[in-house]
Amino acid sequence: MSDFAEIKIGDSVISLPIIVGTEDEKAIDISVLLAKTGHTTFDVGYKNTGATKSAITFLDGDKGILRYCGYPIEQLAGKSTFIEVCYLLLHRELPTAAQLADFEKNIAAYYELPAEVIAVLDVLPTNMHPMGIMSTLLSTLTGAYPADLEPNASEETHWKNAFRILGHMPAMVAYIYRKQNGLAYIAPSADLDYCGNFLNMMTGKVDKDVVEALNVLLILHADHEQNCSTSTVRIIGSSQANIFASVSGGNQALWGPLHGGANQEVIEMLEEIKAVGRTAEEHISMVKTKTAGVRLMGFGHRVYKNFDPRAQIIKKYCDVVLEKLDIQDPVLGIAKTLEETALSDDYFTSRKLFPNVDFYSGIIYRALGIPMDMFTVMFAFGRMPGWISQWRELRAAKEPIGRPRQVYTGYTSRDYVAIENR
Ligand code: ACO
Repeated sequence: MSDFAEIKIGDSVISLPIIVGTEDEKAIDISVLLAKTGHTTFDVGYKNTGATKSAITFLDGDKGILRYCGYPIEQLAGKSTFIEVCYLLLHRELPTAAQLADFEKNIAAYYELPAEVIAVLDVLPTNMHPMGIMSTLLSTLTGAYPADLEPNASEETHWKNAFRILGHMPAMVAYIYRKQNGLAYIAPSADLDYCGNFLNMMTGKVDKDVVEALNVLLILHADHEQNCSTSTVRIIGSSQANIFASVSGGNQALWGPLHGGANQEVIEMLEEIKAVGRTAEEHISMVKTKTAGVRLMGFGHRVYKNFDPRAQIIKKYCDVVLEKLDIQDPVLGIAKTLEETALSDDYFTSRKLFPNVDFYSGIIYRALGIPMDMFTVMFAFGRMPGWISQWRELRAAKEPIGRPRQVYTGYTSRDYVAIENR
């Protein structure tokens, strides 16, 4: 097969190189298109735009494949721990036992929150959404480590910043929750592992089954290649903004209901269906008429067009967790009926709409005792190693500043008219 694609504009034909990834995915490199032809490309929502080369996560949306550094998500979710997956995403290799112990020690050194973060948390309004607070706290880390914000800092400083973010995350998440609910801060414990320590700070208790469930959920969220929030992290980082600012911005992007915010929206949708006594068929029909702008939250994905492998793992896990914790959640039944109804409806099948990772995750978070407005923060907690490793990859490759083009559709040039003449 040719290594070039040809584009014909008028009478001129130009050749553009085809680049091929390690999984044989092919991309036409259009970087010279503007200079050679005066044309840009047009792709609203970047539906088919490759913005980077990345060696971290591979996904094939048609086949429902998701792998971190080559390792299938099913194997990682079944056999690994979140902290080991953090190591994998940052180093691109699985650790030895000694390497993992060292990594955990470096992270645990930052379990305590810096005074600056506590001071900011103490003055934020208690009615502020936890996602807004989370972004503020991540930004506040610039005040805790002002000497280490240089984009071209040493490798040692970049690693330290990664350890700081991963180390502070559990206490930040737990303290946001406890503060908003008028509960006292629980100090981190060096005797517990990463997830156990988080659960203890959040809920004051550590249960083996809950720790296991949390590990799986966080692993499933740990990275997802160039999604909306990760692309945000990379684009902020491309301006050479520091890592704390970049992940703070990524967190804001995650908040939206079409992205990470969907996990909260799913439970709100299920609760509403229960409260008003609507049937699954009635809800599906509201979605299909599109009149009220109602979407089936937790369904559909930009890339997955057959199934989301994370949703399949979560669905199975949902049953296991609820049974282990002996919880009967009526919204689980509603979710299952909605899913079955949608999957046998032409509206959804013809548009290739399937449950995504957020469809069942909220039910598990709820079973673990995590309140609804913290669900998206939990997503951010899981996604953090992905954001950090994508930021580091961008910096290491010295990628240029991200700056898309546009096709201008406004007025052409016109003369200013003095206000008295308008
Ligand atoms: N419910 C009903 N219809 C839907 C849904 C849905 N959840 N998702 C897409 N559609 C329909 C659209 O109305 C559109 O129909 P049309 O062709 O008749 O106009 C068609 O399917 C294509 O939808 P788009 O919005 O163009 O697809 P896109 O790839 O831009 O959006 C997205 C993907 C944002 C995930 C979308 O499916 C959605 O809004 N889902 C609900 C929110 C959600 O669950 N988000 C979480 C995603 S996973 C994550 O971020 C972790």
